[in-house]
This record gives sequence, structure tokens and C-alpha cells, in this order.
Amino acid sequence: MAQLWGGRFTKETDQLVYRFNASIAFDQALYKDDIEGSMAHVRMLREQGILTGEEAREILNCLEEILTELIEGRLEITGEYEDIHSFVEAELIDRIGDVGKKLHTGRSRNDQVALDMRLHTRTDIIQTDMLLRELLKTILHIMEEHTETIMPGFTHLQKAQPVTLAHHMGAYFEMFRRDRSRLHDIFKRMNYCPLGSGALAGTTYPLDRDYTAQQLHFYGPTLNSMDGVSDRDYLIEYLSACATIMMHLSRFSEEIILWNSNEYGFVELDDAYSTGSSIMPQKKNPDIAELVRGKTGRVYGALMSLLTVMKGIPLAYNKDMQEDKEVAFDAMETVKSCILLFNGMLATTVFRTDRMRASASQGFTNATDAADYLVNHGVPFRDAHGIVGQIVLACIQKGIAIEDMSLAELQAISPVFEEDVYEAISMENCVNKRLTVGGPGKEAMEEVIAIERKYLDEVWEPLVLPQEQDESI
Ligand code: ARG
Repeated sequence: MAQLWGGRFTKETDQLVYRFNASIAFDQALYKDDIEGSMAHVRMLREQGILTGEEAREILNCLEEILTELIEGRLEITGEYEDIHSFVEAELIDRIGDVGKKLHTGRSRNDQVALDMRLHTRTDIIQTDMLLRELLKTILHIMEEHTETIMPGFTHLQKAQPVTLAHHMGAYFEMFRRDRSRLHDIFKRMNYCPLGSGALAGTTYPLDRDYTAQQLHFYGPTLNSMDGVSDRDYLIEYLSACATIMMHLSRFSEEIILWNSNEYGFVELDDAYSTGSSIMPQKKNPDIAELVRGKTGRVYGALMSLLTVMKGIPLAYNKDMQEDKEVAFDAMETVKSCILLFNGMLATTVFRTDRMRASASQGFTNATDAADYLVNHGVPFRDAHGIVGQIVLACIQKGIAIEDMSLAELQAISPVFEEDVYEAISMENCVNKRLTVGGPGKEAMEEVIAIERKYLDEVWEPLVLPQEQDESI
């Protein structure tokens, strides 16, 4: 057991208490953030004359060395320390002696862990954003290929009107685009540096918090030290954004699972992204999509868990907050792996356009267009709706589609029908006449695709500080 705070204690900590309290098993994931934060702190202490140039150099070199060894796997983080902060500090003191003891000047583990979590979350937001961008590229590629691939659009899981695969995919493009925009918003709100908040009440050392913030690419320091050490809003916001990403992935997965079923047969998953059954040789299961759908639960759970942890915590730091880590880390890894795997699965999926087209032709998806035909020939819409309803009923009895009715049969129900009705209710026309912005018609779709292409070409550079912010630092 190695602790930083033995001084005022006369008894050893009980073993069970020690283990219950320790966080090293999971906060070791923060080692990089912790060391980078410490290095910025040391540079600032040097600039302020709190450490000499020589002391700072010695500490910085050693921290750099520890970081490299950890990255390269030459140094192992052992469970004998309470947390990652103690581990790094002890390792430093072990290597350079007394000067290492100066690292923690003007700092508390409370603002240290607040900083580490922010740095870690910030990196994760950037990684998730990049993965979403890759997924969007895959979706856009499918959209570009399939502006003429007709498929049924559904409401209530009943065939409704024909759309195209490009249009259907475009809906998901919008969802993940909004997800990215949520991440960018959260980033803007959270990118402030809590280091220098001390335990809760700042410190008497003349710290330059602007300098530390600048070193670490923050827009500036947080403005209240009690809030600085105890704010986890940004993590709650991020987990909420992650939960929304998972909700979108889960809806998409559900559709892939349906489309992959024998009954739909709209897609063929690649062998590399499917699994078999140990007993039924014919099976090719959509396990990736099912797992993504299933893993949505734990990400929702992480959000609910952190909201509950934070509820009722008085100012400022309380140990409850240590409970943010396991759930947040798990959610972060889950979301990233789900986006990555889902993207791989989608990119290798073969779309069975013949089956989609055949499915769209059944189920009267052109009934609305038949009614619109009558409206265009002067029949009030409500009457047209009733006439086409009668036609559909007749078709169901005969087991045929509307376009299989002869003109005489159609005219027997409404004399308004002419030969050109067949053209008007063809699948191609049903889709391509829908040219309102956001609709499935090929021309409307191509305009949207051009907008999305331009959007995807823009690169988000979150760590480049905005100009006006630069000056204030
Ligand atoms: N392991 C702690 C956490 O995750 C670090 C902060 C410890 N601070 C304290 N006052 N015990 O929150």
C-alpha cells in the first residue's frame, strides 16, 4: 500500500478499505492525460519562478521518460498505488529524489483528476467524431450509388410509398451529422482548464492559469474553483451524445437485421461480418448488428448512472465522483467500437436491388400516386382517396397490383382514368416526381448529396484555438 497522505494517520488503512477506495485498476487509463497535465503544470511553475529552470528541467525530463516507458510497455502500472496520480508521483520521486516532491506544488488531486478527465474526454470526443466522419463517408458512398435503386418506404413497418436506397440512407446521414454537431457543441463548452482550482479554493501560489490552459490547448481557465473541481456536466453531456449515437446505430442495426432476414432479403452481409450457428449449418447471423443494438443498453446505463452519482453531491469535490470513470470509460470504448464495426459491416454489405424493387412493386406503394393522378384531373382529393381505396380492394381480391388492372377495369371505377395512368403510377415516376427539398426524387437527392459531400470535405480542427481566444490567453 502506497499512499500520498500518511502524515496525519497513526494506523494503517484496513486492507478492505484500501481496496474499496483505490481507483488505480481503472484510472490507469488516464496515465497519458495525467502526465501531460503535470508537465504543463511544471512549465507554468517555472514561468512563475516557483520552480527553478533546473528543477523544472529535471522533473520534465523524468516525466517524459515515464510517459515513453508506459507507452512502450516498458513500465508497468502496479496495483500497489491508490490511483494513477500517486503512481506517477511516486515513480518520479523514486527516480529523481527530493526535487520530484515539488511537482505537486499548488495542486490538489481534485483539480488534477478534474483536468485528467477533461483531457481524456476531449480526446475521446475527437476520436468519436473522426469515426463518425468515416461512417458518414460510407453512407454517402451508398447514397451516390443508389439514387435510382427503388425500395419500399415504410410507416408502421407497412409498405407506404416507394423511395430509393439513397433516400433511406440519407436519413441516417442526417442523424449522424447531427451527432457530430452535438460533439462539436459539447467540445466548445467543455474546453476550459480546471487546473489551478486546487482542492476547492484555489491556491496562494501565484499560478498563471491562463498559461497552463494555453499549454494544454484549452480556451482558458474555468472561472470558479469550486465548480472547477466538481463539474462533471461535460461528461454527462458527452454520455448523452453517446447515448444518442447508440440510439441511431441501434435503429440502423435493427433495419439491417430485418433486411438480412429471409423474408426481406434486401441485403447480403459479408461473410467477414457474419457468424454461423453451432448447430444449424445453414445459418448466417447478423451478430454485429445485434451486438450494436444490444450494447446500446450499457451506454444508456452509463448516462443514467452518472446523472444519479452527481445528484445531491454538495460542493465541492466528494469521493462519489470517482464513480464517473468506469462507466464513462466503458461507454466511450463501446461507442467507438460500435461505430467502427458497424461501418465495416455497412461498407461490405451487398444490396439486393432486385429484391428491393420487387418488394416496392407489391403492397400498393403507388396508391397515393394513383390518387394524385385523379386530383390532377380535377377530382377532389378526398374523393380520389375513396376511388383508389376501391381499386385497392378489387386488386386484393384478385391478387394483383394497381398497374395490372386493365384500363376498362379502372374506368369502371372512375371514368377519369386514361391510358397515361400507367406511366403516372410507375415506380420510377412515383419516386422521381417527388422533388421537394429532402424528397427521394433523383434530382432532389443529387442536390442533397452535393451539400453532404461538401460538408464531409470540411475538416474539424478542434485543438486549433480560435483567433480571438488566442489573444486573450
Ligand atoms: N481517484 C480520485 C477520483 O477519481 C482522485 C481524486 C482524489 N481526491 C481526493 N480528495 N481523495 O476522483
